[in-house]
Amino acid sequence: MLPAESLRPYNSLSLEASAAALALVDTEQELSKALDWSRAQGLAVLPLGQGSNVVIVDDLEALVVRQQGTGFKVLGESDHEVSLRVSAGQDWHSLVEKTLGQGLYGLENLALIPGTVGAAPIQNIGAYGVELDRFVRAVQAVDIETGEHLVLTRQECAFGYRDSVFKHELRDKIIITAVDLCLSREPVTAVTYPALQTELDDSGIREPTPRDVYCAVVNVRRRRLPDPAEEPNAGSFFKNPVIEQRQAEALSREFGSMPVFVQQDNRVKVPAAWLIDQIGWKGHRQNGVGVHPGHALVLVNYAGDSGKALLQLAADISASVSERFDINLEIEPRVYGLPQ
Ligand code: FAD
Ligand code: EPU
Repeated sequence: MLPAESLRPYNSLSLEASAAALALVDTEQELSKALDWSRAQGLAVLPLGQGSNVVIVDDLEALVVRQQGTGFKVLGESDHEVSLRVSAGQDWHSLVEKTLGQGLYGLENLALIPGTVGAAPIQNIGAYGVELDRFVRAVQAVDIETGEHLVLTRQECAFGYRDSVFKHELRDKIIITAVDLCLSREPVTAVTYPALQTELDDSGIREPTPRDVYCAVVNVRRRRLPDPAEEPNAGSFFKNPVIEQRQAEALSREFGSMPVFVQQDNRVKVPAAWLIDQIGWKGHRQNGVGVHPGHALVLVNYAGDSGKALLQLAADISASVSERFDINLEIEPRVYGLPQ
């Protein structure tokens, strides 16, 4: 157990804050010991992966637990598919690269998403038309209070857009220790997302292989999203709002160029980036934080210190979007350190 640790190296926004203690654990036995210790100390437990989806606003009276176990084992295989159990500490993008290299397909669209495998089910990571849930067979976890091992089926995870049971009933109650995924041996691809289609068309690729899709996604992401190592950020700061069809039609009549993504239930997902961009926030800076000049959904911590300044900027943006479009934006990363 490392006492009063600075969390700046452990969050992609590079926010300064301390945790009461930090535990780096390699095995489930070490995790169990760390949880026993937190109970004895009466400390809350905060599992952290690579800190790429958190806003830490203040010092935390908590034991931060980082799992360091990586890699996967094969649970079962057939001619068509392979089931894997992947350790929570595994870097997500390296898993995408490794499985693709081994002829196990499906994860290509999710290339370059920062973070760990253990965090991936929390918000059901998604990009370029694909979400994690379609590959999940089960999630292995430990109950923070009792230390009991739990297995959740995909249905029990209640996955949705940037959503799961881990953000609701199981919020702060469990630590994911591994994720069971099922990948295909058939070279299937999903290329309906507009930016991905355009990238493949521009490269003259008509019948893309999974490797082509992987490369296209990497190219688009490198062009569009800032690297947190150079410009500290947490990816999209807001979720894309899903609105009723009637409201979408009215907005489309008023703002012809508004991109829309019709959902299975006929509601309509609207890019928050477009709404924010229309109002002119791109490139705006205040109090050491700002909106990235290349992508309106990415807030950047330029001056290094204030989670509160970021939240103020987010509140200012939300208020203006609400006023102009009558749409409420919801913050995507998890915020820690606010008074309860
Ligand atoms: P952390 O930030 O460490 O944790 C996030 C939350 O999960 C916290 O509440 C934490 O307590 C909890 N958590 C972490 N590990 C565990 C565990 N083992 N058990 C229980 N709870 C846990 N996301 C997308 O979906 N699509 C994208 O395209 C995308 N692009 C991004 C681009 C950039 C540049 C950045 C910085 C972020 C992006 N994200 C994207 C967000 C982020 O990559 C994902 O949310 C990722 O899954 C976070 O992983 P992490 O290990 O960094 O989690
Ligand atoms: N757009 C603008 N202005 C901008 C940026 C984008 O008008 O400054 C428009 C684009 O022209 C496009 C639309 O907004 O028509 C969507 O943009 P983009 O393809 O970049 O995707 P996004 O909706 O901004 C979502 C996810 C990303 C994910 C991409 C690709 C959310 C909250 N964000 O972003 O996830 O990588 O789609 O699928 O759903 C993350 O969660 O951190 C993240 C980066």
